[in-house]
Amino acid sequence: MRRTILTGDRPTGPLHLGHYAGSLATRVELQHTHATYVLIADLQALTDHADRPEEIRHNVMEVALDYFAVGIDPAVSTIVVQSGVPELAELTGYFLNLVTVARLERNPTVKEEIRQKGFGGDIPAGFLVYPVSQAADITAFKAHVVPVGADQVPMIEQTAEIVRRFNRLYGAILVEPEALLPRVSRLPGIDGRSKMSKSLGNAIYLSDLPDVITDKVMRMYTDPRHARVEDPGQVEGNVVFTYLEAFDPDHAGLETLKERYRAGGLGDVALKHHLIDVLHTLLAPIRARRQDLAHEPEQILRILQEGTERGRTVARSTIAETRRAMHLDYQIVSEIPQAP
Ligand code: TRP
Repeated sequence: MRRTILTGDRPTGPLHLGHYAGSLATRVELQHTHATYVLIADLQALTDHADRPEEIRHNVMEVALDYFAVGIDPAVSTIVVQSGVPELAELTGYFLNLVTVARLERNPTVKEEIRQKGFGGDIPAGFLVYPVSQAADITAFKAHVVPVGADQVPMIEQTAEIVRRFNRLYGAILVEPEALLPRVSRLPGIDGRSKMSKSLGNAIYLSDLPDVITDKVMRMYTDPRHARVEDPGQVEGNVVFTYLEAFDPDHAGLETLKERYRAGGLGDVALKHHLIDVLHTLLAPIRARRQDLAHEPEQILRILQEGTERGRTVARSTIAETRRAMHLDYQIVSEIPQAP
């Protein structure tokens, strides 16, 4: 039996290299051998952007463009807009009873985000529980595998706990998913301080123009003790090397560069020029496809509609099973009455 993949992104802006390294590349690679669902998580984006719905709506299209540009093929992958599948909200409601507030407050990714976003005491309840809605996303599609970056591992763990609890209480209906991590699973931002993210302003976008990429790489953090070309440099924790690790297809060449850098004699500027070349090679075709597709918003909308409908059919069937398992399948209302 073909295994099922589900993963997704919050449409809070165009996608960046962190998304690419974290899971876009894996999706493109696995889409031909797995039943693949890709979720544009607009409801999750609302959990911390409730005041900016137009922006999220706009970014749903941006994210879809990025998907097609990197090679997610709508002929084999199903792209689903989360808000088009209300069954996900229903499942979230059932799952909320299977998780404690204390457990939600312990989720390390959510904790970190709460700190970064500066909510202070005013954490939206929807934000605290978004891991539960993410558990609904994953289980509604009965996904076995969730390709994600390291920051999402706590979400998959929490999903697995909910699934075990559900299956124990109501019968073995749901699939316990596992995370699939890439080789470089936490791409730092160009400042080297934390993970790449839009809100921290340290991202390189898939749609960035060549000059912008060059400028961002030149500003990248390296080894502060590597002042002169002859000085021996540190490879570990050096952001330029982390990026090469993630994106340079020439692994043997990269090992040679590391040796030269450690020994002294390879300057930061030369090293950065190499990374700029690698990123240009990676991003030029993606940018070109993105520009072509940007002229066809109706076609993109049609693909999203088709994918969402297909996704909804799957989620409906899971909900029907769930209701049966939870003894909620009495036929009180067989049809929704029309309002006069
Ligand atoms: N939380 C993910 C992010 O911030 C997005 C997401 C929503 C997701 N639903 C998902 C990822 C389901 C994997 C599976 O990028």
